[in-house]
Amino acid sequence: MGSVKTLFLYLGVCLSAGGVTAAGDELGHMAENVRWVSLDFKTVLTWNTTASDIVYTVQYSGVDAGTWEDCDICIQVSETECDLSTYLVPYDRTYLANVVTDQSDDIENSPHTYSPHFNPYRDSNISAPTYSVEAAGGGRVMVNITDPLTSYHERGRQLSIRDVLKSDLKYKISYYKSGNTRMASTHRYTQVETSTGKY
Ligand SMILES: *[C@@H]1O[C@H](CO)[C@@H](O)[C@H](O)[C@H]1NC(C)=O
Ligand SMILES: *[C@@H]1O[C@H](CO)[C@@H](O)[C@H](O)[C@H]1NC(C)=O
Repeated sequence: MGSVKTLFLYLGVCLSAGGVTAAGDELGHMAENVRWVSLDFKTVLTWNTTASDIVYTVQYSGVDAGTWEDCDICIQVSETECDLSTYLVPYDRTYLANVVTDQSDDIENSPHTYSPHFNPYRDSNISAPTYSVEAAGGGRVMVNITDPLTSYHERGRQLSIRDVLKSDLKYKISYYKSGNTRMASTHRYTQVETSTGKY
């Protein structure tokens, strides 16, 4: 519990320093509009920059952890995004990132901006799966659904969203009789729609 308090105390102090920076202090330029973009567990932190010659260093932390880890592929980068997909493990945990304007060795006192909280398992969007439909005879159709792949790998194998979400992943299949907009239960189906969702 002590370490949790430490993190939030640090947050309070730095937010007030940030206010000074935004008002035009010589402290420097903070990253603006820090946000998460995540699809099929590929999770990228992006931000806007206010000058062209700035480099950033990205740190992240479990909100319950109290210590920052450096994201070692995003140290002193001039890009305005950082792919944190493989760092946010375990997936079902809430994280916070910190985009530091890296202008000195004194990273603790550099201007910086916190991200919103982000939990990969709950907050990542998932894309529509690819699927095929084939008449299987006897009034049956076969629908083959291919789960979208994530950017996670385990023992050399790329994981699908099903490997991650397991029984929380469900597909809903709606089917209609040809020329009819009502859901049908007779044997000629020409249109299949799928939607994905985490329930
Ligand atoms: C998920 O998709 C919605 C709708 O497009 C978007 O507003 C949101 O920012 C996305 N969330 C992430 C984490 O990418
Ligand atoms: C669906 O997958 C099964 C098993 O892999 C295969 O036998 C079948 O031909 C596939 N059907 C379609 C419609 O792709």
